[in-house]
Amino acid sequence: MNICRPVVAAWTKRTVIEDPWFKQAKKEGYVSRAAYKLKEIQKKHNIIKKGSTVLDLGCSPGAWMQVACQELGPVDRGGLVLGIDIQAVTVPPRFCDQRVKVMQADAREISPAVLQQYAPKGFDTVLSDMLHFTSGINDVELSIELASTALHIATGYCFDQYGETYAQKMGFKHQGYLKPGGALVMKVYEGAGTNEFMKDVQRYFTKVARMRVEASRSQSREFFAVALGRKQPGSQ
Ligand SMILES: C[S@@+](CC[C@H](N)C(=O)[O-])C[C@H]1O[C@@H](n2cnc3c(N)ncnc32)[C@H](O)[C@@H]1O
Repeated sequence: MNICRPVVAAWTKRTVIEDPWFKQAKKEGYVSRAAYKLKEIQKKHNIIKKGSTVLDLGCSPGAWMQVACQELGPVDRGGLVLGIDIQAVTVPPRFCDQRVKVMQADAREISPAVLQQYAPKGFDTVLSDMLHFTSGINDVELSIELASTALHIATGYCFDQYGETYAQKMGFKHQGYLKPGGALVMKVYEGAGTNEFMKDVQRYFTKVARMRVEASRSQSREFFAVALGRKQPGSQ
């Protein structure tokens, strides 16, 4: 019999319930504490404008979609939030309206044609909060892989020559689905390879900032790479 399991589960549950961000999210109607991470980024960098098109990678359970939809303004201003997650995902009823759409897919395998179908002129903002259960073993590596996926979707970036060749062969090579001038936010874990990745991001954007947000757990290595003003495709 594994006598440790219930003890660990009880400790985790209590920690979550006592978390002030969790309590605030519950009180205000957000499906997770992650809402406050995007709110802080939005307040500082104004990445989502009224009526814009937003791609939210790793969207489940949906707090960023709630915040993004609120930032679109009234329904008659238009706009779209397309949420994609590898897990099954539903649109939270609170703060989301008909402009929020969801799809279950692995972002690493998403077909460009699908994105084009939702936003034929591209997205104004691409968000990535991908990476969920951290084991402490390959977290940094995995976070860079997932952030690279977001950068690839946004700009067509390939992280190595093999990736470039593969993308060309498979017909994935494209110039990205983020409009020139658009913003990209990616969750990244601090560690080996992070600085090199941030340098790669800088090639495509006029301004790139590292941001730690208050709602991140204090012991977490997570930060957000906030990239603003996508350069004209092909100019980097
Ligand atoms: C921290 S949660 C996102 C929370 C979300 N931003 C919110 O506000 O509710 C990370 C999500 O990334 C998703 N994810 C991880 N790898 C992914 C992948 N390769 N493609 C799509 N989603 C992925 C996980 O399933 C998980 O739901």
